[in-house]
Amino acid sequence: MKNLIVANWKMNPSTQAEAKEIFDTIRDGAKGLKSEVVICPPYVCLYASSFGKGVVSMGAQNVHFEEKGAFTGEISTAMLKDLGVEYVIIGHSERRKYFGETNEAVNKKIKASLKAGLKIIFCIGETEEERNAGKKSEVLEGQIKNGLAGVGIAQAKSLENINIAYEPVWAIGTGNNCSVEETKESLDFIRKFINPDMRILYGGSVKSDNSADYIKQAGANGLLVGGASLKPEEFIKIIKSAE
Ligand code: PGA
Repeated sequence: MKNLIVANWKMNPSTQAEAKEIFDTIRDGAKGLKSEVVICPPYVCLYASSFGKGVVSMGAQNVHFEEKGAFTGEISTAMLKDLGVEYVIIGHSERRKYFGETNEAVNKKIKASLKAGLKIIFCIGETEEERNAGKKSEVLEGQIKNGLAGVGIAQAKSLENINIAYEPVWAIGTGNNCSVEETKESLDFIRKFINPDMRILYGGSVKSDNSADYIKQAGANGLLVGGASLKPEEFIKIIKSAE
């Protein structure tokens, strides 16, 4: 199983020129490395998929669950496939928090994406309040069971089509990354509910000075990187640390 290192650029950068520069530097730096690298830029930069062939795959940060029709502002799985997109992030905590994305919507998106042959990066994670109230396990279990409800593994072409990203919400963009011990505990807990051969990534303030620990000590099969993935040299160091 290859490690999966995913860049989530969120709503950055502001220009196509900047996006291309970051993209090209990452692609050149990732050449010859063993991990699978995926860049998830904003929708408008997904055109870059044609430049990454063989080294870097493209992923979207979201997708709509309906196939087509009157859904102003939305993007379908078929549109992503047509652009050469391979992966899609589903259920990121920012989508849950700011855009009201429920477990039910996440489940529909996962089913639609797998049906279309997209590989998914399904995000789960507890908030600080939930963690402090001792509800972490309950929240993670609910997100996994509801998000993957009715998703036969058979629906995915292979287990590699379903990847889970454990991202404690309190660790995202805060610099307060989750400790290796706590991450290991959470990943072990999550593994009880999924096929043991599925990849689980860690995300939340990953940097090159903590990235290797998640892979080598906490047992993650990859990383979901936000802020640090926009700094190409830093992101390349992160990819190399997972080798
Ligand atoms: P961060 O974001 O690396 O900036 O904490 C991770 C994410 O939200 O996927």
